[in-house]
Amino acid sequence: MSEKTWAVVDDYIVASLFDSDPVLDAVLAANHDQGLPAIDVSAAQGKLLSLLVRIRGAKNVLEIGTLGGYSTIWMARELPADGRIVTLELDQHHAKVARSNFERAGVSARIDLRVGPALQSLAALGAENAGPFDLIFIDADKPNNPHYLSWAMRLSLPGTVIICDNVIRDGAVLNEDGRDANVEGARAAFSFIGGEKHLDGTAIQTVGAKGYDGFAIAIVE
Ligand code: SAH
Ligand code: DHB
Ligand code: MG
Repeated sequence: MSEKTWAVVDDYIVASLFDSDPVLDAVLAANHDQGLPAIDVSAAQGKLLSLLVRIRGAKNVLEIGTLGGYSTIWMARELPADGRIVTLELDQHHAKVARSNFERAGVSARIDLRVGPALQSLAALGAENAGPFDLIFIDADKPNNPHYLSWAMRLSLPGTVIICDNVIRDGAVLNEDGRDANVEGARAAFSFIGGEKHLDGTAIQTVGAKGYDGFAIAIVE
């Protein structure tokens, strides 16, 4: 089965199960025009994130890795009126594009975008007692996954859902040679979740418009 088939099946999933969305299409077009890399989640994955927000009944969401805010908008739309997403982004230009996308999508009032290294923003959130968050989506620099997962534990409560993107990497997650820092980050997510007695999780391999990768999903207990 080829990547081309995965992408066409993704189109079929989207066309069959939910309406195409001019705002989200415009967000992706703006990201492209502004030179952002096309490493947002796919539409099918964005829909999964939005469903997880609904299933969890999440009011307070934390996202690490905003890019242009595509995944943020998917999640923000499912929040209740008094719900909030704190989303962390290192890159000033990505953050600027994301801000304008949040305006476009009419979700700015529900979004607290913090620019800077996520580890610094997380320390600030800890100091502010900003948690606990009901759902946490980790999708930034992969080598920091274990630090992000540690912070996720500190900013959570039993029942918090933690999702970590890019944990399969074309199957490279099996490589033990330590040569690729992103793969090491994926492996670190597995070690962390597998070794943390207060996390119960799994990983789902994903194929589709964004190739072959995966989501780790865990619940705090
Ligand atoms: N969640 C987004 C995609 C995020 S891509 C979506 O699906 O739409 C990863 C993002 O993490 C990039 O924008 C990158 O600039 C950001 N990033 C990388 N290192 C970071 C760090 N140390 N702190 C915060 N953000 C970081
Ligand atoms: C990369 C980052 C991502 O978050 C992603 O979903 C795909 C690729 C990257 O840095 O290459
Ligand atoms: Mg990702």
